[in-house]
Amino acid sequence: MSIKSLGYLGVSSQQTQQWRQFACDVMGLEDVSVRLEAAEGECFFKMDGHPFRLFVEPGDDERLSVIGWECNNEEGLLEVAERLTQAGVAFEWGGDALVAKRRVQGLLSFDDPAGNHHEAYWGVISDFGRFNSPAGVPNFITGDQGLGHVVLPAPNFDATIEFFTDVLGFGLSDLMKIRFTPDPAEPEKRLWFMHCNRRHHSLALFEMPHPNGCIHLMTEVPNIDEVGYCNDRRIAHNVKLSGTLGRHANDHMVSFYMRSPSGFDVEYGAEGRTVEDWSRYEVFQSTVPSFWGHDFSVGHTD
Ligand SMILES: [Fe+2]
Repeated sequence: MSIKSLGYLGVSSQQTQQWRQFACDVMGLEDVSVRLEAAEGECFFKMDGHPFRLFVEPGDDERLSVIGWECNNEEGLLEVAERLTQAGVAFEWGGDALVAKRRVQGLLSFDDPAGNHHEAYWGVISDFGRFNSPAGVPNFITGDQGLGHVVLPAPNFDATIEFFTDVLGFGLSDLMKIRFTPDPAEPEKRLWFMHCNRRHHSLALFEMPHPNGCIHLMTEVPNIDEVGYCNDRRIAHNVKLSGTLGRHANDHMVSFYMRSPSGFDVEYGAEGRTVEDWSRYEVFQSTVPSFWGHDFSVGHTD
């Protein structure tokens, strides 16, 4: 497939100062806004050899505004354009200003059937400046696994799944059906996890809307101690816990969840599994999210 990894995420927010503190002092990302000559109110955050992996731009609402997908090369991006054209999906080539701002060779943008806004690009431009975490995080697990994963709202579930699998070539990793209350009359909501590289999932789609355009994003650190250190920083900075420590049954990630300044959650984890040969992998449905832990009821108390 032509999309190889989750490359960057963009957030539209009025809370840029809070994001600076959350991203740097809690998540441990490096603020490279000055180095990247950010415009007034914009923030760029680095987590590896890429110039940035997360940016926040001033906006009227609080939402995940861009999901950036990386292609290996120009041919890969042209293949994405071709697939979108064949499927009759509208897309727009990025102009010079946007291409320069994203520090890539070329990009195109499109909306998925649920209205989430995506970009696909190739040829990131980096000075390979060393990652310097203000919180002492040695590194994040990225490279060919991309920056982590993102879970997006998809109320029109079937159309959105079909778009990512049939048009963009993502593969199904596993699926869940979730009910939030013990009431059997509550309709089950589907949650499907999908891969585009050896990371167990780079994308998941959830059959419900979300006011902030994102259920959660996940970044991965090299070991469980780094997860614990981040949880200490979360407490020190009064960031709300939205899911307790636990180990997921699907990607085996040991993680906790916290509330970002824009209302969606950030999962911070370690020990996620990778799949080297998807042809030998068996897709499954799990009836629980986790082997242990991950109590999300803490997120419902304010
Ligand atoms: Fe996750």
